[in-house]
Amino acid sequence: MKALILCGGSGTRLRPITHTMAKQLVPIANKPVLFYGLEAIKEAGVEDVGIVVGETAKEIIQAVGDGSPWGLRVEYIHQEQPLGLAHAVLTAEDYLGTDEFVMYLGDNLIKDGIKGLVDEFRQNKPNSQILLARVPEPQRFGVAELAGGKVVRLVEKPEKPASDLALVGVYMFDGNIMDACKAIKPSSRGELEITDAIQWLIDQGRVVDPHIIGGWWKDTGRLDDMLEANRIMLETMEPRVEGHVDSESRTEGMVVIEKGAEVICSTIRGPAIIGEGTKIVNSYVGPYTSIYFDVTITGSEIEHSIILEKSSVTDIPGRIEDSLIGQNVEVGRSPLKPNAYRFMLGDNSRVGIL
Ligand code: DAU
Repeated sequence: MKALILCGGSGTRLRPITHTMAKQLVPIANKPVLFYGLEAIKEAGVEDVGIVVGETAKEIIQAVGDGSPWGLRVEYIHQEQPLGLAHAVLTAEDYLGTDEFVMYLGDNLIKDGIKGLVDEFRQNKPNSQILLARVPEPQRFGVAELAGGKVVRLVEKPEKPASDLALVGVYMFDGNIMDACKAIKPSSRGELEITDAIQWLIDQGRVVDPHIIGGWWKDTGRLDDMLEANRIMLETMEPRVEGHVDSESRTEGMVVIEKGAEVICSTIRGPAIIGEGTKIVNSYVGPYTSIYFDVTITGSEIEHSIILEKSSVTDIPGRIEDSLIGQNVEVGRSPLKPNAYRFMLGDNSRVGIL
């Protein structure tokens, strides 16, 4: 069995979280989302992994390499344009052949991994196994309608969902999926939808087993989802201090201080993680916060937030909460006259002023 991880997609689909980096590499509890997927695949006993890459190929390849740190054999498959998840499968036809495979969307995070699900697929040998989760806003996802425990209909992002069962971004297929992907036509959004390909399997009388997952799952595409994912993953971590915490500082609860990090005259209240080479000076870092590497926080308070690498937060009088601060961002006070707010914000940024 092989794995196919989808990390293609166009830059505009990465909004509003980031324009500049692959959304699969956005860190959750200081680890790129994609790495959780690689770990889950390895744990499921699958070692041959094809990664579909698009515009952000360079970054993904740089981050994952040949997969050896995870004990995986990784190959890259270039998708010229993001023409849909089923198109990505077709692009990988030479790599996959007629083998069974687990397809994993690179921006999805499943807390309990996929081992049990892959074992179930191997044992029951359906043509496809899909994972479903009950969600409050099914119209944002592919939605399944079940009858008597069987899948009868799958619709991609329906305006009026027939159920609250969303398709989770992990699918298992045998070789029949190639015929399905070749048979379908592009959807109204111009993509070859994997949802339609699975519907085609059902219409052809193939066996598609649904599995409703009970554990926690997130598609990390939106700020609230990322903060929730960050919360959930921080709670699973063990405390560890590898950096320097001075005698004027306090750490409380589950706190990870990575190597080369410095905490000076500050309080870190966990669950929180402070990344490599990051400096926290005269500051408070509160629960559910992940600060990535080479960040500087001085004279400020931050809680329930994610800060990406090489950013700085300096002398902010109010507490920063519920925020995602991107790479190389500077948040600080302006010494210039006249007194004024001065911003340089990218498209789709959001700022809340007290
Ligand atoms: O997250 C679960 C949802 O994922 C499912 O409920 C939907 O049925 C499914 O269509 C998918 O919906 P999204 O619209 O959220 O997919 P997105 O465009 O975010 O793409 C998912 C991943 O696949 C992402 O890592 C980018 C990659 N991708 C996407 C496209 C369109 C590719 O590699 N190639 C592509 O052509």
